[in-house]
Amino acid sequence: MSDIIPVISATGLFTPPDVITNAELVDSFNTYVEAHNAANAAAIAAGEVAELAPSSVEFIEKASGIKARHVISKAPILDPDVMAPRWDERPNDEISVLAEIGVKAAEDALARAGRSPADVDAVLCAASNMQRPYPAMAIEIQQALGIDGFGFDMNVACSSATFGIQTAADYVRAGHARSVLVVSPEICSGHLNWRDRDSHFIFGDVATAVLVEVKDIAPVPHWEIVGTKLKTVFSNNIRNNFGFLNRASPETAGAADKLFVQEGRKVFKEVVPMVATMIVEEALKLGIDPVSLRRLWLHQANQGMNRLIAQRVLGHEASEDESPTVLDTYGNTSSAGSIIAFHLNQADLVDGDTGLICSFGAGYSAGTVFVRKVGG
Ligand code: COA
Repeated sequence: MSDIIPVISATGLFTPPDVITNAELVDSFNTYVEAHNAANAAAIAAGEVAELAPSSVEFIEKASGIKARHVISKAPILDPDVMAPRWDERPNDEISVLAEIGVKAAEDALARAGRSPADVDAVLCAASNMQRPYPAMAIEIQQALGIDGFGFDMNVACSSATFGIQTAADYVRAGHARSVLVVSPEICSGHLNWRDRDSHFIFGDVATAVLVEVKDIAPVPHWEIVGTKLKTVFSNNIRNNFGFLNRASPETAGAADKLFVQEGRKVFKEVVPMVATMIVEEALKLGIDPVSLRRLWLHQANQGMNRLIAQRVLGHEASEDESPTVLDTYGNTSSAGSIIAFHLNQADLVDGDTGLICSFGAGYSAGTVFVRKVGG
């Protein structure tokens, strides 16, 4: 094995300024429900159309822990006649929306590392939804930043960023790159069915970036990547059937299964033990006592899931200091969630502190990145 040590030199974050609170979201959803039920009153009475039930702020907060989410296109999402993000399609000579927010997060990471784009060798765009099949979003981001090297896209749903970090670390170890940007622009509002009561509250928009580098060029403080582990197990419990093979059929192109759908209860039950076991096994393999982990930056999908996973790893109910929450204000931002948690909650840790960045979600897919602080 290579003796080159890959590190996280810096992270970056772009947060869209617009926020939708649960109250605003539920107000819009319930207006849609009332209008639907009124317009279909006769058919509902005849049993031909299902009556829609209202959503509630209390349910959303209690079931998920989410209080608000940032979005790129607020007004159309809240408009009961639209209930989806909308923006003008841009011409090919203008930067695309996904690349634009990715560039903002990447610039933040580069500035924090004191790094110029000329020093970067590769860009991985690791996210759960790409704006188009090709050219790769990563190459557009690479070009916008002025990076001479290579880039490609990778999609492992909620685990895209951790899979990206391991891929970047492997390039560094192999000597194929000395500085790699892992960019995760997550415009999750675009794949969410805002008319689905079971899931309309889940997602938000954001972009993160992680700069993975060879240790000898990294600024201090930085985070040594002590070990990574990836796992996938096929499941239909989180699924999105949208794709280039079904765009031709107008009857099915707009169907609900062409957006995010999930069996939330099953996901909860199956993923919690899978991830907790994976973390503990991998920690022990790396010679780390899981109980000694200073902080867990967990995937941000559901507060209850995080409470259970942290408890199984640490052996006690985790405090906010041990397992910080960002889903209350960001919602679920897919692969970016654990990176936001890390970005906003790592400066106070000290030299030698060991923590874990961990993702889990559709696939199923799960990734662990154990990191140790150097300096600071
Ligand atoms: N407002 C009010 N009530 C609602 C509601 C809403 N928006 N949505 C559902 N309900 C009701 C249901 O009708 C049900 O009522 P019933 O008990 O009378 O049948 C009740 O609330 C419970 O619904 P359920 O879907 O079982 O909720 P839950 O407690 O499992 O919470 C999730 C739903 C999605 C928040 C939760 O399952 C979850 O987060 N799971 C993990 C998901 C995850 O991590 N996914 C990864 C995504 S990448």
